[in-house]
Amino acid sequence: MSNRTFTMIKPDAFAAGHTGSIIQHIEAAGFKLIAMKLTRLSAEKAGEFYAVHKERPFYGELVDFMSSGPIVAAILEKDNAVEDFRKLIGATNPANAEEGTIRKLYARSVGENAIHGSDSNENAAIEGSFFFSAFERI
Ligand code: RTP
Ligand code: MG
Repeated sequence: MSNRTFTMIKPDAFAAGHTGSIIQHIEAAGFKLIAMKLTRLSAEKAGEFYAVHKERPFYGELVDFMSSGPIVAAILEKDNAVEDFRKLIGATNPANAEEGTIRKLYARSVGENAIHGSDSNENAAIEGSFFFSAFERI
């Protein structure tokens, strides 16, 4: 069982100045930062990252949005990291997200929903490697 997950603070939350508050929220919940960078995805890279959604009707919008501005990518560590982090961020659609979750607090819509969290240990490893070399992780 992996104890790591991967996250991105998405362009909406970064542009709105919520990066510091979101990182504070994540650390207060017991996640340790293993790697972190402020970066920007090209449309090509965003498309590659979300390739699993290629056939979905929202794919084009998702790629445009994820490449629209800077993001913060990070690898996080905690017991049961993937599942606990999905709980911390809340439902994909902020209208359905529980009170106190990051999406409830900071997301605007199902498309612009502030933060990404890996959905399995396998994807956490793949997504972490997408952004960080072994050398960049503590
Ligand atoms: P994420 O991968 O970003 O953590 O989000 P998730 O698991 O909660 O949701 P997922 O089904 O993987 O969808 C990926 C992202 O696509 C956008 N989306 N838009 N317009 C729509 O109906 C729609 N549905 C999904 C969201 O940005 C979602 O986070
Ligand atoms: Mg997902």
